[in-house]
Amino acid sequence: MWEDLEKSIQDCQKCKLCQTRKHIVLGEGNRDADIMFIGEGPGADEDAQGRPFVGKAGQLMNKAFQGLGIDRDSVYITNIVKCRPPANRVPEDYEAEACLDYLRNQVMLVKPKIIVLLGSTALKNILGKEYGITACRGKWIEKKGILYMPTWHPAALLRDENKKIDFWLDLKQVQEKCKNL
Ligand code: URA
Repeated sequence: MWEDLEKSIQDCQKCKLCQTRKHIVLGEGNRDADIMFIGEGPGADEDAQGRPFVGKAGQLMNKAFQGLGIDRDSVYITNIVKCRPPANRVPEDYEAEACLDYLRNQVMLVKPKIIVLLGSTALKNILGKEYGITACRGKWIEKKGILYMPTWHPAALLRDENKKIDFWLDLKQVQEKCKNL
């Protein structure tokens, strides 16, 4: 149950990210969503507000949602780690591993049909270290009845404009697939 999950995470000290966090960012959105988005971990804005993808990268993702007609409130959005890694570094393996049970619970509760993996950290921690984002993005991967769509992390679009079109096309595929499920 969501209440159990929320309770279990509220004083989490499973890894050292608890020492520097301001807020735990569990996730937000439709708890009955067909589509779940998984990012890497909270940044400074997310840590300050306790909400996922509210900073620059999140605002860019919102723009893509708006352009495509995806209602942000209709999907569920979360991250691999629920506490901000200092200076936005990539979460260490043991931090991701320590946090993964919360995500497993979220997936069990939401029961999404499609999971969008935003960037390499989400891809590698969910599907395996052998997967690479450059080779996999834009391609459907099915595992245990869930369809995964790996795509660029929205922060990558801020660094490289050329990736925006890929991101858009990948989300378009997700939208089309969802209509036909
Ligand atoms: N980047 C992420 O991976 N997650 C967020 O919530 C914000 C930025």
